[in-house]
Parts: sequence; structure tokens; C-alpha cells
Amino acid sequence: MTSIQHWQPVAEIYDIPQQGMISFEISGLSLLFSRQGQQVSCFANSCTHLDRPLDMGNVCNGVVTCPFHGYEFELETGRCLNASSPPLKSYPVRIVENFVQVCLVEDTID
Ligand code: FES
Repeated sequence: MTSIQHWQPVAEIYDIPQQGMISFEISGLSLLFSRQGQQVSCFANSCTHLDRPLDMGNVCNGVVTCPFHGYEFELETGRCLNASSPPLKSYPVRIVENFVQVCLVEDTID
């Protein structure tokens, strides 16, 4: 098996709300994006408590609260702030001429 890394286009940087979040389906993955100025973060749209989606959660001061059981995650780092839950799964992001791209890894069978 070989892993291939590729940069997938997402949106214009200003489509991602400042201090907020938005989710997109990309290559079959539900991904959560947030922006602090020119800094964009990307995480799996999946709470690390019971894998439920976070995109309906409340965002306040850069922290999203899971709508199911209240776990809180820092949107800059994915770190869980109020429980001993692992961080959100993160994906590398880059900005190319104001467009956001996310790095995904695809496994192929040789
Ligand atoms: S599923 Fe998110 S806190 Fe339980």
C-alpha cells in the first residue's frame, strides 16, 4: 500500500468565518475549518468523545462546545479543554493566493 499526499482546494480564506467555524465535505470527509486572521485550522468534524459532529456546536472565544455532552475544544489547536479527551484530528492547511487548501492523504493499493 502506498500513501499519496495531495493538496485539495477548499474555499476562499474569507469564506471561513473569523473567530467562527464552517464545515465542508471534501473527498468524503467532513472537515471543520476555523480562522483567526490569516491563520486557518482544519479538524475532522468529529468530537473525540463519541465521534458526533461538532459543526452545530457553539463557538465562543475560539472554543467550540460539542452540542451533545459539552466537551470544549480549542479551535486553534484542537485541544480538549474540559475533559481528558484526545485532541481533534487535525489536517495541514495552506493558503495560496487567498485560497485555502487542505492536505489529505490517500492510501492506494499497489
Ligand atoms: S459526543 Fe461530543 S461531548 Fe460527547
